[in-house]
Amino acid sequence: MTPDRTPAGGQRHAAAPAMRYARREHEFRPSPVRAVFELALDPRFVSLAGGNPDTALLPHEEIAEISSRLLRDRGAEILQYGSGAGIGALAEVVGGLMATQGAQVSSREILITTGSQMGIDLATKLLCDPGDVIVAEGPTYVGAMGVFGAYEAQLRQIPVDGEGLVPQALEEALDAVEAEGRRVGYLYTIPHHQNPSGTTLSLTRREQVVEICARRGVPIVEDDPYALVGFPGTEPLASLYSLNPAGVLHLGSFSKIFSPGMRVGWMAAPPQVRDRLQIAGESVDIHPSVLAQEIIAAYVGTPSWSEHLGRLRRAYAGRCQGLLDALAQHAPQGVCWTVPSGGFFTWVTIDGVDPGADILGAAIERELIIVPGRACFAADPPSACLRLAHSSSSPQVLQEGARRLARVIDDLRRAHPV
Ligand SMILES: Cc1ncc(COP(=O)(O)O)c(C=O)c1O
Repeated sequence: MTPDRTPAGGQRHAAAPAMRYARREHEFRPSPVRAVFELALDPRFVSLAGGNPDTALLPHEEIAEISSRLLRDRGAEILQYGSGAGIGALAEVVGGLMATQGAQVSSREILITTGSQMGIDLATKLLCDPGDVIVAEGPTYVGAMGVFGAYEAQLRQIPVDGEGLVPQALEEALDAVEAEGRRVGYLYTIPHHQNPSGTTLSLTRREQVVEICARRGVPIVEDDPYALVGFPGTEPLASLYSLNPAGVLHLGSFSKIFSPGMRVGWMAAPPQVRDRLQIAGESVDIHPSVLAQEIIAAYVGTPSWSEHLGRLRRAYAGRCQGLLDALAQHAPQGVCWTVPSGGFFTWVTIDGVDPGADILGAAIERELIIVPGRACFAADPPSACLRLAHSSSSPQVLQEGARRLARVIDDLRRAHPV
């Protein structure tokens, strides 16, 4: 790093004028988890906030072997710039994964991305002008809210129940936006094991949502990184893309089923839309890492990968059950939580507490870290709520987290009653 002072302590550069930021800068939201990352490293703290996939369960030796074989045999090609479309072998793997959700896609429909997060960014860049409205579940994924803000789109949220987003509420929200003379950029939905609520959009609702959006000319962005991490016995439902490819941009990811550090995901869209997304993507990252794509193409789909996925699904199911049992044991009266059929998260709703209360602040006082529900809403949440993650915690941590949460709830009810 270049020092900005000379050894004698004199100023090396004239003081820079204050940097003028673009208007949209204030929309960039730090993740509420990252903001307390340092605390999560403190051994006195228990964190049920993170929600990382368990990469310790991957066969590291086998992946090391694949990587070195690829570099030995095709190093010059793999270490070179690649195509903005991604590598063909990976598009084929993606086609196979999407078929498990009823979509028969050709490689012309697939764009490999640097993760699902980039897919949200590209979809918003392509579909939204400043001032457009994005309709989404309430609560929704905090990382998507940051993208909406960065493109100066306005978020309207609709309620979620045990079957996912409520179609009647969707219809009403679209009516309201239309009555205001505004345009809906798209519907953003996370249909499997939603982050953060843990709910899955039922098949009937999928059909209804697709019908409503098609009738009204509203595109759907289907962000589906948790589709393949259903607990044993839960298979993925038909993707919205399979129900109406012409009206849906589908986002997939290898982060939850393989490795988030590889930074590889995909988008599926009709070819003419996919081509525009590719051009938009090339101006951001030129292309995703060729090495990461090659490793994934060589591994995902093999019998070893299927075993790994089975292990992951069993591990997450066990951890989730551990969390639900701990909540049943420790939670005071008037606290409800969702019972997910897959994924990483459970959503907790607390009666008798002001929805505007600082739940994370209260949790930190008890050396607990959670994601406050408020972070997942553009406006005030309808009730006091929070997200718990079970994906990377031991049974002891889940137990202790639920025990501390019970105390936090008592504190909140005393300090911030409704
Ligand atoms: C709903 C949702 N979308 C997108 C992402 C980002 O995924 P990726 O690692 O593929 O960029 C996440 C990560 O947690 C997520 O939960």
